[in-house]
Amino acid sequence: MTATRIDGKAFAEQVREEVAEGVKALQEAHGVTPGLAVVLVGEDPASQVYVRNKVKQTEACGMNSFHHVLDASTSRESLMSLIKSLNDDPEVHGILVQLPLPDHLDSKDVIEAIDPAKDVDGFHTSNVGELWTSGEPFVPCTPLGCLKLLKSVEPNIAGKNAVVIGRSNIVGRPMAALLLNESATVTIAHSKTKDLPSVCRQADILVAAVGRPQMVKADWIKPGAIVLDVGINRIETDDGKGRLVGDVDFDDASTVAGAITPVPGGPGPMTIACLLANTLEAAKRSVS
Ligand code: GUN
Repeated sequence: MTATRIDGKAFAEQVREEVAEGVKALQEAHGVTPGLAVVLVGEDPASQVYVRNKVKQTEACGMNSFHHVLDASTSRESLMSLIKSLNDDPEVHGILVQLPLPDHLDSKDVIEAIDPAKDVDGFHTSNVGELWTSGEPFVPCTPLGCLKLLKSVEPNIAGKNAVVIGRSNIVGRPMAALLLNESATVTIAHSKTKDLPSVCRQADILVAAVGRPQMVKADWIKPGAIVLDVGINRIETDDGKGRLVGDVDFDDASTVAGAITPVPGGPGPMTIACLLANTLEAAKRSVS
């Protein structure tokens, strides 16, 4: 079997086009332009790349972008004061504080300071609670992107066995909640799980979000399963340039899976597209 390749890049472009249309419609109906504030503390190179992409794509779909770069030594008080001013600013509909934060800042403390109605990352405990009680949350962007990709190849998730490898607040846990809300039978596997390969072999839907390059092999996968690979890992290559790979051994897994996301070009591009969709939704809720 050779798996269908799920094209996250093309799907993300489609989502961004829909968001751009939604932005125009909101401007025409209410004279409101959605605004996203992105806060970066420090100079982590990977975070700088992510934030630059977020700003670029926010502007490309017609939204306002507010970009705040703070020194790595910024105090808790200064960061909290910025968040308060963004909470109070009617032009800002979404607030994202890029993680990880420098060690002296407690990310939970910072996230809780964001107005839940502007928490387009879906990390505030109010949104987490809404997600686990089938309410109306802002859903974290990476798992939301994964769900959209999954539904593009399998609209009937109810009753399927889903295994999520990884229990992070950003991906693993919200992904499990989303699958449960779709009536899948969900297992969350993690570093203490016994016999991980046999747990994974039960999965009709397998989501890998652990940060271990090419860990998931063909013999971990049930024939025909749908595999969503959230990992983004740089591995060394002979030419010294390095290469991005996921948590799944793509070539090996493709011989067994029914459908699979590549890295790069899988859930990655969907993350920012879903952030823009959440920001549009926050702006719509602000006028309703
Ligand atoms: N760092 C890595 N992924 C994310 C994300 O989705 N949101 C934020 N705020 N920081 C991140």
